[in-house]
Amino acid sequence: MPVSDPRPAEPPPGRATIDAKGGSFGHVSWRYLAVATEAVVRAGRIQRERYASGVAIEYKGEIDLVTEVDRACELAILETIRGRYPEHDIVTEETDLARSGSRFVWFIDPLDGTVNFAHSYPFFSASVALAMDGEIVAGAVFDPLRDELFSAERGAGAHLNGGPLRVSGARRLIESLLITGFPYDTHQRLEERLRFFNRVMGLARAVRRDGSAALDLCYVAAGRADGFWEEILKPWDMHAGRLIVEEAGGKATRLDGTPLGLGPDGVVATNGLIQDALIEALREEKPALV
Ligand code: IPD
Ligand code: CA
Ligand code: CA
Repeated sequence: MPVSDPRPAEPPPGRATIDAKGGSFGHVSWRYLAVATEAVVRAGRIQRERYASGVAIEYKGEIDLVTEVDRACELAILETIRGRYPEHDIVTEETDLARSGSRFVWFIDPLDGTVNFAHSYPFFSASVALAMDGEIVAGAVFDPLRDELFSAERGAGAHLNGGPLRVSGARRLIESLLITGFPYDTHQRLEERLRFFNRVMGLARAVRRDGSAALDLCYVAAGRADGFWEEILKPWDMHAGRLIVEEAGGKATRLDGTPLGLGPDGVVATNGLIQDALIEALREEKPALV
C-alpha cells in the first residue's frame, strides 16, 4: 500500500483502549504518531525531490556532512510538530534548541544517511520519535525512495505502510544477517572501531553496513535482517527505530544488555532470539565497553 495520505482520519479499531502503562495513552499516542508520520513523510518528499539533483554540502567534520536538504527537512519537521505542539521540547540533529522541561520530547533526524544521500546512494530516511515521561511512545521512519513508512506506538505493534511487522525467526548467529554502522570518528579510532566488526563477521552469515541507522533498525523489525548493532548512536538516530523493533517483537538494549535511556548510547537490536549471543560476542571482544 503506497503512502498517499500519512494521516488516517480515525484511530484504528481498538486503538483507544490500548494502555501500556495502566493509563490511557494508547489513544493519545495514536494522535502523536499521526504527527510523527506526517512529519517524516513531508521530509521524505523533500528528499525524493532533491535526490540525484546535486546538493550543496557543508562539513561538520572530515567525513561528517550536512546538506541543504538536511536543513530543509528539519524545517519541515519542526513546522509540523510545532504547529501542533508548540509547548513540547524538541531534540533535533542540526539545531540546538532550548528545552523547557516538558514531559514530551521529540527526537528528529531530518535525514538519516546524509553521506548516502550526498553520493546518490539510494538508502536514507527521515526519523521522528516522541518520548513521554522518559519513555519512547511513538516513532516513524520513512524511506522515500521505496515509499516505505515504518511506524510504531508503544503497546500497539509496529507497521509498514499499515501492515503488521514481525521480526525474523533466526536462532543462531551463523544463520543471521546482521547490520552495523560506524560513527564519524572512525578514521581516528580505526582499530578500535573494527574490533566488534571483525569479531561478528566471523560468527554471522553476513554483515552489512547500509548507512542509515534508523532504517537499519526498521529492517530488523521487518525481518529483513536479524540484528543490528552500533557502538555509539545519537538519540535521533535510534529512538524511532528501536521502538519499531520492540513493537515488532524484537529487543533493543545497550551494548551490555541493560535498558536504553534517552541519551546517546551503543545499541544492540535483534529479533530477540539472538540478542544474548550477539551481546556475548561483543563482550568477548571488548570486555571494558560492554
Ligand atoms: C548516521 C547514519 C549511519 C550511522 C552513523 C550516523 P546521519 O547518521 O545513521 O548509518 O552509522 O553513526 O551518524 O549522519 O546520516 O544522520
Ligand atoms: Ca543519523
Ligand atoms: Ca541526519
